[in-house]
Amino acid sequence: MKAILTLLPLAAFSVSQNVNFEQIPLEEQPIGEIPLQTSSVLTTEPLTIDGIPLLGFGTWNLKTNCSEAVSWAIQTGYRHIDCAAAYGNEHEVGRGIADGLLNTDLTREDLWITSKLWNDHHDPNKVEAAIDDSLEKLGVGYLDLYHMHWPVRSGSLGRNYIDYRDTWNAMSALVEDGKTRHIGVSNFSPNQMENLLNHTSHTPSVHQMELHPYLQQTDWIKWHEKHGIHVTAYSPFAGTNPTYQPGDPEHLLKNKVITKIADKRGCTAAQVALQWGMARGTSVIPKTSHLERATENFHSLDCVLKKKDLEKIDELGKAHHRFNNPSKSWGLDLYEGLEDSKGEHKKHS
Ligand SMILES: NC(=O)c1ccc[n+]([C@@H]2O[C@H](COP(=O)([O-])OP(=O)(O)OC[C@H]3O[C@@H](n4cnc5c(N)ncnc54)[C@H](OP(=O)(O)O)[C@@H]3O)[C@@H](O)[C@H]2O)c1
Ligand SMILES: *[C@@H]1O[C@H](CO)[C@@H](O)[C@H](O)[C@H]1NC(C)=O
Ligand SMILES: *[C@@H]1O[C@H](CO)[C@@H](O)[C@H](O)[C@H]1NC(C)=O
Repeated sequence: MKAILTLLPLAAFSVSQNVNFEQIPLEEQPIGEIPLQTSSVLTTEPLTIDGIPLLGFGTWNLKTNCSEAVSWAIQTGYRHIDCAAAYGNEHEVGRGIADGLLNTDLTREDLWITSKLWNDHHDPNKVEAAIDDSLEKLGVGYLDLYHMHWPVRSGSLGRNYIDYRDTWNAMSALVEDGKTRHIGVSNFSPNQMENLLNHTSHTPSVHQMELHPYLQQTDWIKWHEKHGIHVTAYSPFAGTNPTYQPGDPEHLLKNKVITKIADKRGCTAAQVALQWGMARGTSVIPKTSHLERATENFHSLDCVLKKKDLEKIDELGKAHHRFNNPSKSWGLDLYEGLEDSKGEHKKHS
């Protein structure tokens, strides 16, 4: 993979500080290549791998002030917005994108915009209508990335009535038609990935999955590296999202290992969590409805961690805690063979 730095943030947020070259253990990078810091000045330029900015802005659960938050995110320096039809707010996100562009010197081409095909549009005959709807609501002419949100089809005829490989073939046509630059998947198991790769000539560009210090899935990330598939980490703050069941393990941003590292390095806990994710070569897409948190999270790009910090955070992965698992309510087994696919973590409590 080629590492390229293309997108510049607004100058107002450039911060200078001394770079510690131990920040990212380059030799041991598990995936892709991390752009080297070539000068002694670290700025808040969003890192990109194959054009996808490593820091993105999540939009699930963005409600009342959704447009304001998205616009603010763009003005703050985010260049990657993660959307989905299922979030029910693409129209508001689109207004935020338009407002963000209006308030900066940017154009559509400066942004990386992702959306996702929902489970009720897996029918190959419905895929184009689904992306057209997202494009219209988001107010853009094309997407940078369109994910199959789940390897699961929903509707009156049952969950697996349509093979996700047929859905995938219909998504491939969207790339040829110029409606999206890339297509990807989300929440697939190893078997489902293999099955897909065995039956398609169009390798997914990106796989979006739950990843955070409590669910590290390191071997799974390595598998993607081998196949040239970029990985995006969703829910980078673990169970912080109020939709998830609270309980053990403790709130990630209050975890002592994280807060101790944050204090030592002059970062916040959120910045440490995000920097850890980016240091693994995954893109991270934190969501917030608070403007000051959007700014805080953006400045994770300035948070300099040492190799031993990353190693300490790696140890938090032993407990394996998956927060997003609708297997039971959907009546099927998701994430087969992956960490905490069956909620085994409960035994640790
Ligand atoms: N592909 C999929 O199936 C899938 C599944 C889940 C998520 N996603 C994507 O990933 C994005 C991120 O995941 P997520 O929304 O589940 O959770 P997240 O980004 O890990 O965490 C969001 C939660 O953390 C809080 N928060 C944000 N910044 C904070 C800070 N600096 N300090 C303290 N708290 C902070 C937010 O509160 P406030 O908003 O109140 O500030 C919110 O409750 C989603 O928005 C969505 O775009 C995709
Ligand atoms: C994919 O193809 C390989 C090689 O032919 C085979 O070993 C593997 O079982 C297949 N996997 C699936 C899930 O179809
Ligand atoms: C957005 O709305 C939430 C929930 O109503 C509120 O807590 C938050 O402060 C608001 N943020 C901004 C920037 O207005």
